[in-house]
Amino acid sequence: MHIARITLDPTAVVAPVNRRTFGTFVEHMGRCVYTGLYEPGHPSADVDGFRTDVLDLTRELGVTTVRYPGGNFVSGYRWEDGVGPRDQRPRRRDLAWHSIETNEIGIDEFARWAAKADVEIMYALNLGTRGVQESLDVHEYLNHPAGTHLSDLRRANGAEEPHGIRMFCLGNELDGPWQLGHKDADAYGRLAAATARGLRAAEPGLELVACGSSSSGMPTFGAWEATVLEHTYDLVDYVSCHAYYEEHDGDLGSFLASATDMDHFIDSVVATADSIGARLRSKKKIQVSFDEWNVWYLSRFQNQPPADEWRVAPRVIEDEYNVADAVVVGSLLISLLRHSDRVTAACQAQLVNVIAPIRTEPGGPAWRQTIFHPFARTAALARGDVLRAAVDGPTYVTARHGEAAVVDAVATYDTRAGEVAVFVVNRDDTRPVRFAVDLSRFEGAVSRVEASTLADDDLRATNTAANQDRITLRPTEQVSIDAGSAEIVLPPVSWTAVRFSLA
Ligand code: AHR
Repeated sequence: MHIARITLDPTAVVAPVNRRTFGTFVEHMGRCVYTGLYEPGHPSADVDGFRTDVLDLTRELGVTTVRYPGGNFVSGYRWEDGVGPRDQRPRRRDLAWHSIETNEIGIDEFARWAAKADVEIMYALNLGTRGVQESLDVHEYLNHPAGTHLSDLRRANGAEEPHGIRMFCLGNELDGPWQLGHKDADAYGRLAAATARGLRAAEPGLELVACGSSSSGMPTFGAWEATVLEHTYDLVDYVSCHAYYEEHDGDLGSFLASATDMDHFIDSVVATADSIGARLRSKKKIQVSFDEWNVWYLSRFQNQPPADEWRVAPRVIEDEYNVADAVVVGSLLISLLRHSDRVTAACQAQLVNVIAPIRTEPGGPAWRQTIFHPFARTAALARGDVLRAAVDGPTYVTARHGEAAVVDAVATYDTRAGEVAVFVVNRDDTRPVRFAVDLSRFEGAVSRVEASTLADDDLRATNTAANQDRITLRPTEQVSIDAGSAEIVLPPVSWTAVRFSLA
């Protein structure tokens, strides 16, 4: 059995846990909106047509922020198509996902859903086919109190109060050639700066996100961030990161170490942003909005409809997640939390059906995919401050990410509740790990409040409509506490969360 340990120190604080770390993403794509969160006629639908089974699962997931309405979709979207009387809304082609957008749901309806789910909206603007004026128009519609054409239009449409959206993304993945309105970094940087200037003139306190690279594998990665931030440094608060991971050609070891790539990605973007800040002699620090991340079997990119077929809400990338995927999702959350000093917003992509923790069937059930569990438990237990948690333990060599730790962990400390939470993965695919947590630097007697683990002998097991709870969290089998130290046995390929009380 491997042995690994961490020593936690209450004064070794990285940063407070940002609630926005537990954001998610709703794109008008596939069945995320239609027959996902919205399905009038479904037995669970409320008066607005929202599925209450999905609302319940969204609350249980612990989601705080939702990026909306895209994604690639937003780069061809006309926001005004989605407001006003529904019977007059146009049907349009969505060229990003080769489908028909009915516009039955627009921002006013989505804001109603967000209020029911108790989540904050992060609104993405179309800087693909549109620009400064349309961004200012949608901002006026969303946030201006009253007494102007577009704010009064919103009120006439039934939303008396402004939607009060704080966070705006200045476009989506405009470095990608697949993106409608794709631009080079210079052109995008100028447009993002002009849009940000306009938005700040309208409402100075907004939080603005400039597009970073759509992945760290893009040929322009690094140079893109540098150029964009040269144009926008004083005008934006965040630069975005997007990353999707999958198991390539049965290389489980590399896949399980995906979070080492995420660590490196974040560190590289922070270093690039700081170098621009230094060059500009700025004291300001740009934050990272990791506003798309997840496991996505992109290489299998399924269900693209034939070119002559245009359907409403087709099944697109409805990945079915297994145990290994859930362990990776848990470890990606460890990486995000570890970087809480700079990653102050993040969105798992997406929420329902489309590479999502929640799955639904039209007219049928909604259920939790395997990846639901580490997200929900981390969102529930990560409170207070993030503590530095350097793991002393074995490493292994991966083909894709070089040397990686077998055990990776992060901890949070809630001084008010007197509780420490530890989140830990074991990446070894055959051996358990004896994992020691030294809590002797904390005052008070240590006791365990709860400990749960996601693991299974069958790493490929999934949850399905017929077997919805095949994979859930189970009580951790072996946890012992002795004189301020805890010892936990981590099964092979597992994710574990433990909450300790220091009463
Ligand atoms: O989340 C799916 C897609 O992935 C988004 O639309 C896009 O922004 C990214 O490439």
